[in-house]
Amino acid sequence: MFFDTHAHLDDEHFADDRELVIKRAREAGLQLIMNASCNLEACKKTIELTKKYDFIYGAVGIHPQDARDITEADFSELKELAGEEKIRAIGEMGLDYYWDDVPHDVQHQIFRRQINLAKEVKLPVIIHDREAHQDVFDILKEEGAQEVGGVMHCYSGSWEMAKEYIKLGFYISLGGPVTFKNGRKVQEIAKQVPLENLLIETDSPYLAPVPYRGKRNEPAYVVKTAEQIAHLKGIGVEVVAKATLENGKKLFNI
Ligand code: NI
Repeated sequence: MFFDTHAHLDDEHFADDRELVIKRAREAGLQLIMNASCNLEACKKTIELTKKYDFIYGAVGIHPQDARDITEADFSELKELAGEEKIRAIGEMGLDYYWDDVPHDVQHQIFRRQINLAKEVKLPVIIHDREAHQDVFDILKEEGAQEVGGVMHCYSGSWEMAKEYIKLGFYISLGGPVTFKNGRKVQEIAKQVPLENLLIETDSPYLAPVPYRGKRNEPAYVVKTAEQIAHLKGIGVEVVAKATLENGKKLFNI
């Protein structure tokens, strides 16, 4: 009964065995998968996946690393795609100062536009924040993202800031890094975040949890992340699974 709330099954890393990967997710006990999109091409593949598999839902959006050369026509198309039946969020969107290959002002503009699109179509947002913690927070607040709510995907900020996000009605989502040996900061978050504000995810094909670290990630491995969170909180894995499933269903209106 797990819900992987952030995967990229449309990614080319799954080109050869996508069906098997999805079958393994089912066998591992996944009840739902949310597939996030990074660009318009990915959005279309996401929609195809949601039509083919009843337990896959989708989000449409533009990742900050794909935010270069986005036109008005692209935004119109994005809005149209957001109207598809099993599209339940806008994302992933946000800021990435780690790779830093798209100018910050361009990233900011595309991020702000997508928050406003989410408000227009009344869908929650899926947020990518890599080494841009304060700017992401400020922009979300300035644009009124609390109106639609959303999730901080693969959260890597402080507990202080997590509390601010929770106040805004955002969920904190944890993935593979919570199982890493050097993941002390995010392990502390896992201990602190109340179950009712928590989601779990893989970010497949990236960030595989231990013992698969460094390999291609896939939704079935979300179980490892749930086990680690349960261990850190001193509760049963089924409790983590049930709470995060219910939270995800609520956020994405499933
Ligand atoms: Ni992602």
